[in-house]
Amino acid sequence: MEIVIVPDAAAGGELIAAAIADLLIRKPDALLGVATGSTPLPIYEALATKVRETDLDVSRARICQLDEYVGLPKGHPESYRSVVLREVVEPLGLTESSFMGPDGSAEDIAAACLAYDQALAAAGGVDLQLLGIGTDGHIGFNEPCSSLASRTRIKTLTERTRVDNARFFNNLDEVPHHVITQGIGTILEARHLVLLATGEGKADAVALTVEGPVSAVVPASALQLHPHATVVVDEAAASGL
Ligand code: GLP
Repeated sequence: MEIVIVPDAAAGGELIAAAIADLLIRKPDALLGVATGSTPLPIYEALATKVRETDLDVSRARICQLDEYVGLPKGHPESYRSVVLREVVEPLGLTESSFMGPDGSAEDIAAACLAYDQALAAAGGVDLQLLGIGTDGHIGFNEPCSSLASRTRIKTLTERTRVDNARFFNNLDEVPHHVITQGIGTILEARHLVLLATGEGKADAVALTVEGPVSAVVPASALQLHPHATVVVDEAAASGL
């Protein structure tokens, strides 16, 4: 695992956007797995700036989603599909046709999960998967004690994660209890994992991820098992290392 400590979130965004640009130069139709939350926003901003201000061509890039809420109506502004379209796909000048994600409003959620795992494999696998980290060490929505071999499936959110994510909704009651997430086993199949963590609130989770034992109790510690994992942290998130 490679650990890169950067001065601040903006520097982390620049660094990772540069890695994505390099990938897209080598492989223009790369499948880029994106994460939601506040942390990756500097990455998407830096990448969109490169597209506007340089001759970087992302027109053949493909984007895929890490996780999704279950039960939000199609088109809900806080469904991760809407968030990724708004924060990543549209700013890069791409359209919905270059984007894939699990269907959180499907009648049969188990079938939707299986279909998504199969779609990722059929697309040739994820080339670079961006990850954030929850304060409890979750990646995607794989909460503590998720199997390290898990596949895309439905999960129940912990109260802590619902509270953490309530800022995106009008109140806590609106935060769904259930989600679809790529499993840890699914995530580990990506060719390159890049986790960004910023701010002091992530310091404990980062220390356990990087220096603790590999354990289902800290799902992000599974990155230690991956042959090509990069953890980018700002000074504050690195303060427990
Ligand atoms: C959610 C997402 C995760 C994300 C986490 C942290 O739980 N499912 O993918 O990493 O939030 O979000 P933030 O970056 O806003 O702290």
